[in-house]
Amino acid sequence: MIKTNMYALIVSATVGSLCLATPALAQVDAEEVFKENDCHKCHHATKAKKGPSLAKIAAKYKDKKLDEKEAMKHMTGGKKVKLDDGTEEDHKIIDTKDVAVQTAVAKWMLNR
Ligand code: HEC
Repeated sequence: MIKTNMYALIVSATVGSLCLATPALAQVDAEEVFKENDCHKCHHATKAKKGPSLAKIAAKYKDKKLDEKEAMKHMTGGKKVKLDDGTEEDHKIIDTKDVAVQTAVAKWMLNR
């Protein structure tokens, strides 16, 4: 009986600490990824740079009821975009194929 209880205690303690550890590992610093990818060079929080500001993008998405999936297409598709100065180039492709990271960055961009 005592043995069983000890076992149950160890199992629950282990599961408990795993549950605590997992979110910490899965936590993505979206802002950091955004900066590391030079996205901030074209997308400022509020000011228009070569690309629209995050505030403008977030407002447009809210208006048109678009979600992070649409934003993820932009960061992975590499489609041609028109820059503010009138020139065209292929949009920057985010340097990760990790959908969880892409989702986090997209949500971070749109929930501001
Ligand atoms: C060289 C400048 C430049 C860089 C670097 C850049 N973008 Fe953009 N981005 C643009 C421009 C310009 C547009 C507008 C395209 C349009 O409206 O057709 C845009 C549009 C977007 C959109 C879609 C907005 C919409 O209206 O649907 C998202 C999302 C986005 N960028 C995310 C990112 C992310 C994430 C990064 C970094 C991996 C990044 N961008 C890097 C210039 C840039």
